Amino acid sequence: MTSIDDQTIEEMLAAARAIREKAYVPYSGFHVGAALLAGDRVITAVNVENASYPLSVCAERNAVAKAISEGETSIRAVAVVTDATSTPTPPCGGCRQVLREFGEGIAVIAENADGSQRKYWSVAELLPDSFGPDDLRDP
Ligand code: THU
Repeated sequence: MTSIDDQTIEEMLAAARAIREKAYVPYSGFHVGAALLAGDRVITAVNVENASYPLSVCAERNAVAKAISEGETSIRAVAVVTDATSTPTPPCGGCRQVLREFGEGIAVIAENADGSQRKYWSVAELLPDSFGPDDLRDP
């Protein structure tokens, strides 16, 4: 797994926590803030829901779209913070696959609502034996 220094992890978690309140969540009320470390930048996003429910997009995926749109393809880590749970919330399956596109070594850090619990994984741990860009080609 990519190793990220403690100060950067704190910065990412603080950024995810700060943006979390901007989540557009009229249906679930479940606010999620994500902060990606992409290159040397911290790029934040929230979940954005839709009256056509399946069109809602998770915070992690919005953060990836924002990073790529801003030319940052080197994604090293993502921090995820929600507002409702006493335990850290791991990324959903769809977000795991979207993160995996940019590296199995990406570090994932999740913190619970009040910041008293933290969990760490690599994308490879969250999505073992995954399908990725290389699987589209013969070795
Ligand atoms: N959500 C995220 O933003 N990230 C996840 O990894 C899990 C789920 C959002 C989607 C929806 O807006 C709300 O949380 C409830 O599922």
